[in-house]
Amino acid sequence: MRVLGIETTCDETAAAVVSVAPDGRPEILSNEVLSQIEDHAPYGGVVPEIAARAHVEVVDGLVKRALERAGTTLDQCDAVAAAAGPGLIGGVIVGLTTAKALAMVARKPFIAVNHLEAHALSPRLTDGIGFPYLLLLASGGHTQLVAVKGVGDYVRLGTTIDDAIGEAFDKTAKMLGLPYPGGPQVEQEAERGDPERFALPRPLAGRPAPDFSLSGLKTAVRLEAERIAPLTSKDVADLCAGFQAAVVDVVVDRTRVALRLFRETAGHPQALVVAGGVAANQTIRRALQRLASEAGLRLAAPPPALCTDNGAMIAWAGLERLRMGASDDLATSPRARWPLDPNAVATARA
Ligand code: KG4
Ligand code: ZN
Repeated sequence: MRVLGIETTCDETAAAVVSVAPDGRPEILSNEVLSQIEDHAPYGGVVPEIAARAHVEVVDGLVKRALERAGTTLDQCDAVAAAAGPGLIGGVIVGLTTAKALAMVARKPFIAVNHLEAHALSPRLTDGIGFPYLLLLASGGHTQLVAVKGVGDYVRLGTTIDDAIGEAFDKTAKMLGLPYPGGPQVEQEAERGDPERFALPRPLAGRPAPDFSLSGLKTAVRLEAERIAPLTSKDVADLCAGFQAAVVDVVVDRTRVALRLFRETAGHPQALVVAGGVAANQTIRRALQRLASEAGLRLAAPPPALCTDNGAMIAWAGLERLRMGASDDLATSPRARWPLDPNAVATARA
């Protein structure tokens, strides 16, 4: 079984081919990504209109390359999958329309993948994790703690009531004069900083529901920065270290509560899984590793290239759905919003 996957929901254009051998072993045959970071950097964030245009310019060439590198043809694929949302609608339309056209011409099933579901299922591709597991999905657009019980069976245990974690990293970086995207920059600065110099809040820590709130922390960093301005490079490093330490404490506290809730409602998790761009942060990974060991669980974190947006996770989610007999109508609409758990109460970030 072999599926072509296309991803265009944010600022990465990606196409990949993933297959599964008769013994069930998955294989990434190709995984092509073109990042638009340089196009958006002057604006300090993703500009939807620029993103959509950039996807249009490169998506067909990228699909061709993904097929070539996989040593396959469209005819040899069993289905074409694309992320149909949630995301920036202009970009979503580009990938979705491309996939529909390819599926129609090649007379293959078309699969509309939920981008969040693709992140959620990616540890099954990379680490063969069985259901159920607890997922912390943390990216620039999403922060969710999800009980993943099966393909299409997700219960959102917690989410952010304001900024996503990656977004908080990006905004903090911008405030401190660091380039976009801020996550890796803040992590690098934090390495030589003193995490205890500034007393920063740990929003929502200790609360019984595993939700997040990051905007107060970001504001606290801003107030400290204004108080001691002009900032030296040591000040920036200390603020980054303090911010990151606060995020780590919050992530660990919220995930611990989610684990408790998981055990009460969904049984024993097979693993703790972290995915999304923020999962590239080594300090956060180490803290989650300690938490998982404490709880007697395995921590699974896809390699960074499969944590950030990519085509392989879309192809994989498409494959998981295809082998369950699912496929979608060519009339499927793109969706700016598409919650993983339809029963979860809508929040600003659902
Ligand atoms: O999953 P992703 O590539 O795109 C989406 O947002 O869907 O995640 C990108 C986010 C950005 O906010 C970026 O700053 C953050 O992940 N990020 C990090 C690190 N690397 C990327 N945040 C903290 N530490 C990092 N090392
Ligand atoms: Zn993503």
